[in-house]
Amino acid sequence: MKLPAKVKLVDVGPRDGLQNEKQPVPAAVKIELVHRLQDAGLKNIEVTSFVSPKWVPQMADNAEVMAGIQRQPGVCYSVLTPNMQGFEAALDSRPDEIVVFAAASEAFSQRNINCSIAESIERFRPVVEAARARGIHVRGAMSCTVGCPYEGEIAPARVEMLARLMKGIGVQHVGVADTIGVGTPLKVQRALEATLRHFDINDVSGHFHDTYGQALANTLASLEMGVWQFDTSVAGLGGCPYAKGATGNVATEDVVYLLHGMEIETGIDLDKLIDAGKFISDFLGRQPGSRAATALLNKRAG
Ligand code: HMG
Ligand code: MG
Repeated sequence: MKLPAKVKLVDVGPRDGLQNEKQPVPAAVKIELVHRLQDAGLKNIEVTSFVSPKWVPQMADNAEVMAGIQRQPGVCYSVLTPNMQGFEAALDSRPDEIVVFAAASEAFSQRNINCSIAESIERFRPVVEAARARGIHVRGAMSCTVGCPYEGEIAPARVEMLARLMKGIGVQHVGVADTIGVGTPLKVQRALEATLRHFDINDVSGHFHDTYGQALANTLASLEMGVWQFDTSVAGLGGCPYAKGATGNVATEDVVYLLHGMEIETGIDLDKLIDAGKFISDFLGRQPGSRAATALLNKRAG
């Protein structure tokens, strides 16, 4: 088993994590979370999304949050942009990377972004072109690559098709997402294999929600294939308002604990990361959704 020596984590907590919160989270709290994540050594942070505030009210403060961040050199700040309107609105915020997001399932595409997969690709085409012309890196998120809340199991052929379409419009990197966390290692590996038919191993990441407790196993299964980039969420925050029942992303703390235990470098200070998770969990009035953080916080207290 040859595992990567180094792993890149994108903390999607401020975006995927908070988009699903019902209670208002002030921009100042989001900004503080981003600051704490970068202080903990995160070099990639998905900050917010430029989507319709009617669809996702929690992200309506996108520009304010981006403007409030004291940027650290070497940190990549990314934002979601579903269409040209979102991309143009994001430009003033100077994102280092934008994320276009599509689904391997037609039903999820309709529910999440109100159009078919084919229409979404046509919406993304000018976004990708405009971003790349400005030297902004373009990542693509591929939702429901294993299962869909509306269509059930998703065949790898669907994922292969979506990866081909993403590649065709110039998307530079794709994230293979298990949106509702139903995946198990072999199924996730099949979705990754389908993606790798169109993208290099260095341009593919895993994005695993942990609804069924499989995300760490799926992360290890991905590492075994040579995948070395993952989206994770501090304190295990997350979910998608259009994927009912789906819980948070795999907790960054748990993945860092796993990786450091296997002597894989992340550049992240686990103690500071746990503090960041505690900060946002305290604000939300709950315990961090990370087993490693809970264990280490108990150890500190004892
Ligand atoms: P639509 O209603 O079809 O859009 O929504 P439209 O073009 O017909 O416009 C309707 C109205 O929306 C207009 O306003 C537009 O100005 C406005 P009105 O004239 O009615 O006042 N509008 C916008 N406003 C702000 N920003 C924009 C924008 N675009 C249009 N960019 C749209 C289509 C895509 C906008 C909508 O469906 C939407 O915002 N969806 C976002 C859903 C979302 O954010 N989901 C969560 C993120 S994806 C995710 O979590 C999955 C991921 O984590 C991976 C995984 O786990 O699977 C990435
Ligand atoms: Mg997600």
